[in-house]
Amino acid sequence: MTKPQESTEKIKTVGDFLPINGIDYIEFYVGNARQAQHFYRHVLGFSLVAYAGLETGIRDRASYILEQGKIRFVLTTPLIPEHPISEHIRLHGDGVKDIALWVDDAFRAFEETTKRGAKAAWEPLAFRDEWGEVKKASIFTYGETVHTFVERKNYKGPFLPGYKAVPQPDKLSRPAGLKIVDHVVGNVGWNEMNKFVDFYERIMGFRLFKHFDDKDISTEYSALMSKVVTNGNGRIKFPINEPAEGKRKSQIEEYLDYYKTPGVQHIAMATDNIIDTVAKLTTQGLDFLYVPTTYYDDLQKRVGKIDEPVDQLAKLGILVDRDDEGYLLQIFTKPVEDRPTLFFEVIQRKGSKSFGKGNFKALFESIEREQARRGNL
Ligand code: FE2
Repeated sequence: MTKPQESTEKIKTVGDFLPINGIDYIEFYVGNARQAQHFYRHVLGFSLVAYAGLETGIRDRASYILEQGKIRFVLTTPLIPEHPISEHIRLHGDGVKDIALWVDDAFRAFEETTKRGAKAAWEPLAFRDEWGEVKKASIFTYGETVHTFVERKNYKGPFLPGYKAVPQPDKLSRPAGLKIVDHVVGNVGWNEMNKFVDFYERIMGFRLFKHFDDKDISTEYSALMSKVVTNGNGRIKFPINEPAEGKRKSQIEEYLDYYKTPGVQHIAMATDNIIDTVAKLTTQGLDFLYVPTTYYDDLQKRVGKIDEPVDQLAKLGILVDRDDEGYLLQIFTKPVEDRPTLFFEVIQRKGSKSFGKGNFKALFESIEREQARRGNL
């Protein structure tokens, strides 16, 4: 009688020590933010909402704040070679540095996680300007990637203290209907997946969401293993991938060869109308992975009745997968840098809460065709 109570209490306590409202922003370190922000506005449909740099009194870096729906991206570039961001870019190329989490008490989040063994990245600090105060503190996750805890309940400015708002609406933006970040996937090294699942469970109070083994996710040549962790309220989903043995080089290994450490592999963004969104993004020049038209031949047999016309899905290359709760539609871009590292996913959920396991085979064969073209298979 006492045992179940104890365990319920334990789950409650574990789930409660790090309440997270959502992803606050995702910050990319890039070699040329002024040019990159054009890609995010013209191609991906984000609006420029704020800026910090030389013109706003910041001497060592420039940052562009971009928003679409509830998604907020920050593009940051160093202005001097001695800057730690310059070293980050030299080593990794452009990529995600920070998956920042919106919390009500940033200092407590830092204390609770570092107490449990998280490595501090940036110490707790309060920042102020005429709009109020923001508290921030950061811990490391996989590789050089960090989670910054952002507390903004006493702030009314456009982003963070020091950033200047950009006049709205953004006339150069071409919105595509992307609404929220659905999940952010990390690639870690050989045999490291469980280490980072444990990190999220023990240090951040997350729990295991789904588990795929390498039999689920493998093709003739290459393979990976993946586990998904989610936070207490389920708003945050982080799949963690590690390479698995295959006949040829795993796509995760290729990523690690070029990014040089574990890091963010892809960011999935949700839309309410994937056909409209993907048609728009394609017209605007976004490169999606190619799926052979044979994928659609027996689609309805595999996934049953769906609302969307199959010919339109086939034309755009949108994939469909079904589980017990419903179905999902998804599509993946090619890497958005010259190094084959970070890419994006567009997803629409119609009941399904999973990640498209049924598409992994078709998808990985497509990824491997690209790997072969790069001479990395
Ligand atoms: Fe995904």
